[in-house]
Amino acid sequence: MPYVTDKSRDLFARSLHVLIEGVSSPSRGPANYGAYPLFMERGEGPYIYDADGNRYVDWMMCYGLEPLGHAHPCIVQAVSEAVATGPHFAAATEIEVEVAELIQQMVPSAERVRFANTGTEATMAAIRLARGYTGKPKFIKFEGHYHGWYDDFLVSVHPAEPGRLGHRNDPIKLVESSGLNRQALDDTIVVPWNDLQAVERAIDTYRGQIAAVITEPVMANMGIIPPEPGYLQGLRDLTRDNGILLIFDEVTTNLHVPSGTCQKYYGIKPDISTLGKALGNGLPVAALVGRADIMEALAWGGVLHYGAQNASRIGLYATRAGLQELNRNGGEALHHAERIAQRLTAGLRELFAERGTKAIVQNVGAMLQIFFTERPAIRDYRDFCANVNQAKFKEFARALFKYGVYLSPSPVLHSIATAAHTDEHVNVTLDAMRRALRDIGQ
Ligand SMILES: Cc1ncc(COP(=O)(O)O)c(C=O)c1O
Repeated sequence: MPYVTDKSRDLFARSLHVLIEGVSSPSRGPANYGAYPLFMERGEGPYIYDADGNRYVDWMMCYGLEPLGHAHPCIVQAVSEAVATGPHFAAATEIEVEVAELIQQMVPSAERVRFANTGTEATMAAIRLARGYTGKPKFIKFEGHYHGWYDDFLVSVHPAEPGRLGHRNDPIKLVESSGLNRQALDDTIVVPWNDLQAVERAIDTYRGQIAAVITEPVMANMGIIPPEPGYLQGLRDLTRDNGILLIFDEVTTNLHVPSGTCQKYYGIKPDISTLGKALGNGLPVAALVGRADIMEALAWGGVLHYGAQNASRIGLYATRAGLQELNRNGGEALHHAERIAQRLTAGLRELFAERGTKAIVQNVGAMLQIFFTERPAIRDYRDFCANVNQAKFKEFARALFKYGVYLSPSPVLHSIATAAHTDEHVNVTLDAMRRALRDIGQ
């Protein structure tokens, strides 16, 4: 059967009368997909189906939201049960206590838990909490890290031309949006990642004014960039020695490494952490967790964090079912996902070597990213901006669609293996990738 996407094209034309760019978040629209995005209709396990009935092996998995794959029976059952008994009460519930206890088992630093809906809400609350608790105004954010779309975080997130970045000792803050509160950005200190000296320098410059350092423990919004050995421990030591809180933003990494979180995986104990995405298995569930004495600052709204939708039963039923399933047999599902990602990574490296393609793959846990580059490794944002052929990645991802493989065409958004992917899906994907590389002349 020929590959056609006519229904997606027609839906896109219709959508333009009611939606902006046909979507509800720009990364889903023409910016990444070209003329029109694929309209998706159904998901099952590792597969996603578009409006024309085309089936894809899905490695985007809604940006990692579903570590068990689409429509896992345990999630379907849990959500149905919650809906049937009242999706949300906005009142105290036992399920909140139960899920918080499950989170405590997975996150060593989670002495207390507060639920939110999205990662952005959780990171926003984390910064407010850090400022409230320490009484200090500023925080350090790293180049190329994404913590959601709150004003204070919206600098130096997306790749930019190397000439615009400034010197690495004094990075130019690249503002990501119109309409921001510019004063808010005064308190955001931007520093290159994977470079402890840069953090030391910033601490010296702004001594006594810094509430927190916020970091993704693996840089997962610039493809996948692992921390250098000792880097996260170095951040822990520097922050502790200088009376600064360390915040791990695990919204993207949680439930995509064996043991559940990067802090456990790398053996680091941050003061505050944010969780989200995979936590809700497709439903909007996020959490702010951390040291009891810090989290207590939220009591009575002292540091304010509200939300009528916080801790909906429907979301927490899905979270409980997901965590129980992922923890089964010593966390077998997460080990499986890691093994699948490693197999895909190894297969891709062989494929690139065999074809002479100038590309590399970086992988941590169940997450991986292909970079079209001549470099042996990409280790930070500046490296990415200067050395990664982003247009080539888009072309490659789009060329894969007709061979039944779905990755996000964004060069900064990584792929995810889940409990639902098997060796057979890796084989099918490698075969499709071989053909797509040939199509794009790589
Ligand atoms: C590390 C990180 N933090 C926060 C967020 C924001 O989460 P959400 O999209 O749920 O608001 C994201 C989303 O991509 C993320 O990757």
